[in-house]
Amino acid sequence: MHVEHLGWSRSGALRLLDQTRLPSEEHWLEIATLPALLEAIRSLRVRGAPAIGIAAAMGLVATLRFRAPGGAGTSGDAAGPGTEDVAAARAAFLALVDETAWAIAAARPTAVNLRWAMERMRRRAQAAVGAPEAVLDALRQEAQAIWDEDRAMCGAMAEYGQALMRPGIRVVTHCNTGALATGGIGTALGIVLLAGERGLDPEVFVDETRPLWQGSRLTAWELQRAGVRFAVQPDSAAASLMAQGKVDVVLVGADRIARNGDVANKLGTLPLAIAARHHGVPFYAVAPSSSFDPACPSGASIPIEHREAGEVTAPFGVLVAPADSAAFNPAFDVTPADLVTGYVTERGIVHPPFEE
Ligand code: MRU
Repeated sequence: MHVEHLGWSRSGALRLLDQTRLPSEEHWLEIATLPALLEAIRSLRVRGAPAIGIAAAMGLVATLRFRAPGGAGTSGDAAGPGTEDVAAARAAFLALVDETAWAIAAARPTAVNLRWAMERMRRRAQAAVGAPEAVLDALRQEAQAIWDEDRAMCGAMAEYGQALMRPGIRVVTHCNTGALATGGIGTALGIVLLAGERGLDPEVFVDETRPLWQGSRLTAWELQRAGVRFAVQPDSAAASLMAQGKVDVVLVGADRIARNGDVANKLGTLPLAIAARHHGVPFYAVAPSSSFDPACPSGASIPIEHREAGEVTAPFGVLVAPADSAAFNPAFDVTPADLVTGYVTERGIVHPPFEE
């Protein structure tokens, strides 16, 4: 069983396992306001492209429930409002849905799943008939559907990815692409977790993934719980491991895949792809269709999030550079399609180029 890190509370709030506190502490948050949701996404309390989309959809419902005008989220007036009142309340509610969804979509720019989920929720709100309460119900169902579909897509990718596995396979992975990053078993890590469940005894070299250490804090935590062999390594060790012939495949996730196949993913993915090509190691990106952005012609048009210097110069509050040093801290890089051996999706494994 993979880790569950998302849920609804009894009162309808969003429940999240705070990923900034792993692996030392399993601390759950209840989120019912827009500022708390935005803070959780920006601070990476929930992170990973598919998980951000799911949490955003569920969080949208939770924040609307507690903010809605005209009685959505409450039992309403027993006598029932008149038709004009309902129309006015509905219009005000749809405006609130729009405004809230746009604010959430802007919280992090690179993972397209966030914008995709918010656009899907806005369309669902507009298509729902009736008073705010009915629109909110439709949104709750849509958020649950986004989660359920992601779980199913993770399962399908993990199955298709078994074609890349064999007994004792040695895998390098970057960042966290497991259950914590998705609504199911994961994307790239899901393939390895399933191979482990099936007794293939994979061995995973886990890039630390500086500066926020999603590899060592989160991926290693998931692998340890699953009983899969792993070693944490500095990000810069991957190339020498390949040079020694100790890597069979590189599996990474994606925050956005452009129409030409360029892949935006966690900073450090590009050097991994270059090293893999140099050493003849196959390099796969594993992502559901919600991470593909046909509106983006190439990686050059993918917006890259830049984060604050303190994450690099004083990680977790420990000064590792002179105080007030400037830092270059892009959260993602773009790997050109020609360095990608293939893409594992919920519909199978595809190879570049794939303009269609
Ligand atoms: O900044 P993060 O931790 O949200 O970045 C996550 C990644 O880069 C993952 O590799 C990507 O979202 C794919 S997760 C299935």
